[in-house]
Amino acid sequence: MTITVLTLFPEMFPGPLGASMIKRAQEQGLLAIGVTDIRDYAEGRHRVADDAPFGGGAGMVMKPEPIFAAVEAARCPAELGCRERVILLTPQGRTLNQGVAAELAGYEHLILVCGHYEGVDERVREHLVDDELSIGDYVLTGGELAALVVLDAVARLVPGVLGAEEGAAEDSFAAGLLEYPQYTRPAEFRGWQVPEVLLSGHHEQIRRWRHQQALKRTRDRRPDLFEKLQVTEDDWELLEE
Ligand code: 6GU
Repeated sequence: MTITVLTLFPEMFPGPLGASMIKRAQEQGLLAIGVTDIRDYAEGRHRVADDAPFGGGAGMVMKPEPIFAAVEAARCPAELGCRERVILLTPQGRTLNQGVAAELAGYEHLILVCGHYEGVDERVREHLVDDELSIGDYVLTGGELAALVVLDAVARLVPGVLGAEEGAAEDSFAAGLLEYPQYTRPAEFRGWQVPEVLLSGHHEQIRRWRHQQALKRTRDRRPDLFEKLQVTEDDWELLEE
């Protein structure tokens, strides 16, 4: 998969993209990431990419021409017919969730346009982008951190990016559940014991305990997720224990 980020602040990207799984995925050729400065596509000696809003008001608006030019330069050649999506990061977009991430993981090329200032000229929304995404109901200074969040959530669903062991299909979130509690050595720390069942080597009991904990956590912490679950007869019994 290829992900192209278009931004006025390219310096925000090398750190997060140069660490951990995302770094490894690029080294392994599973993921190609390009970061382009929208100002490189702005005209004139001063390469201005923003301007005052028509009608007045505070702040600046991102001009359409540099964004159209940057997206058009980033696009796959039409004759390749590549599965491509142009996404604007903005608080007005639909909210990212695991389902949206899974849907985006099916594309060959994502072009992520980072919105900034008071907004983006409306013609970008109307005539250029396929989709608008937000990462939640709070306001960031710009779309850059949101683009990194989208990129990370999508990249880990690309086959091979996670090791065989940590396969994304195993995510409890993919099943609509929160994760069960995890422990590692030592078995006792400052007098606090790891649950006995995890030390037992009894795989069926461990599986059962973990599923029970995941159900309880989801019910107690995220009733909204719990409501959407298909709770089986066995699940109800585990919850009553
Ligand atoms: Cl995509 N952009 C900004 N500026 N704020 C946000 C956001 C995006 N998603 C949540 N808050």
